[in-house]
Amino acid sequence: MLKTQVGIIGAGPSGLILARMLAQQGIESVILESQSRAHCEQRARAGVLEHDAANLLDEIGVGERMRREGLVHRGIFLRFDGCDHRIDMAELTGGRTITVYGQHEVIKDLIAAAIADGQALHFDVADVSLNDIDSDAPTIQYRHEGELRVLQCDVIAGCDGFHGVCRPSIPDGAIRSFARSYPFAWLGILSASAPASAELVYARHERGFALQSMRSPEVTRLYIQVPPDDTIDHWSDDQIWSELNTRLAVDGDWSLNRGPIVQRGITPMRSFVADPMQFGRLFLVGDAAHIVPPTGAKGMNLAIADVRVLAAALGAFYTKGDMRPLDTYSATCLRRVWNVQRFSAWMTQLLHRIGDDPFAARVQRAELEYVTSSRAAATALAENYVGLPFGALA
Ligand code: APR
Ligand code: PHB
Repeated sequence: MLKTQVGIIGAGPSGLILARMLAQQGIESVILESQSRAHCEQRARAGVLEHDAANLLDEIGVGERMRREGLVHRGIFLRFDGCDHRIDMAELTGGRTITVYGQHEVIKDLIAAAIADGQALHFDVADVSLNDIDSDAPTIQYRHEGELRVLQCDVIAGCDGFHGVCRPSIPDGAIRSFARSYPFAWLGILSASAPASAELVYARHERGFALQSMRSPEVTRLYIQVPPDDTIDHWSDDQIWSELNTRLAVDGDWSLNRGPIVQRGITPMRSFVADPMQFGRLFLVGDAAHIVPPTGAKGMNLAIADVRVLAAALGAFYTKGDMRPLDTYSATCLRRVWNVQRFSAWMTQLLHRIGDDPFAARVQRAELEYVTSSRAAATALAENYVGLPFGALA
């Protein structure tokens, strides 16, 4: 039987950042990941870091490349009825900004740092299962390099994403789920061409939502709202570009830079919260506990906020024998989680075409006009988009 202090399941942002924050406090952990290293490093995900999330990566010593290659943005555009409206986030929030840096780049930096520091990190593990999670000595059973192994821990961190094994290991009835699905999905592409706008453009069009983001000065990230059951092979390159050009059209001299599509896919949209985010000695972190629709770009940021709370609670547990911060882990995290659910659902209904109700469409346009003309309303958007300070709501 192998032993560690914290058994971490999943090497996404949650698991990798948690292991690092624990190591910095002298707490030992083992990370078990079902995919290969290459798979984790290439998975296409969002790429917006809140102000405090970017600072946290610096604080834990993995921010160097992000600061060099990431793009600091001080504003975003809301585009509707052929007009652009800039939300000056930095000016509205006392200088707070976002950093555009792909999640897979964050993952590469974290894996490299973990390996350099001798962190126990096992890829390609199979048949992971959890036992005795309501005892003081929970175990993780898994198969690695052809052998069946058992890892005994003080605590297990479930960092294995929405489709992982940790949440389903909690007995029926011990946690409640809150969920909402949306009647649309996002078709996303990466284009090997320069972004036409240096800042993100969120467009509301009667044919549906569109977004222009980016990964670098040479690579554009683009999304369009599509029906929930749509498949990627329904879409030719010409159709994708034509839809993007229609929905992102704006008065004046602006057009997208068409380039080769180097990656494409369709992502479903959902909101989900597990409450509580803990059971016995198992703590759910990040996507294992909650999912937000991508409109507010919050998935990775919310995961980082959970990790921060759990790492501090485990610090109190190991250094002072204080169980209280662990006992209140879920309640602490859920305050932020529900605020981010609120914001992500609000951004989603503000910008997507939802049904054919003409009344709803007029209310939506009135809301866009309000957000882009009232400093109070614009500030509410800006402070949530750059992220409420860590500590303010967990
Ligand atoms: N055993 C081991 N590892 C697993 C298992 C399992 N049974 N199931 C899933 N995993 C791994 C996945 O392969 C993945 O690498 O857990 C990891 C979970 O990572 P993420 O899904 O990235 O979740 P998280 O770390 O919480 O980060 C949240 O990622 O999904 C995005 O939009 C989301 O940006 C947000 C962020
Ligand atoms: C992205 O760049 O992938 C991105 C940006 C903003 C979002 C979602 C995704 O709201």
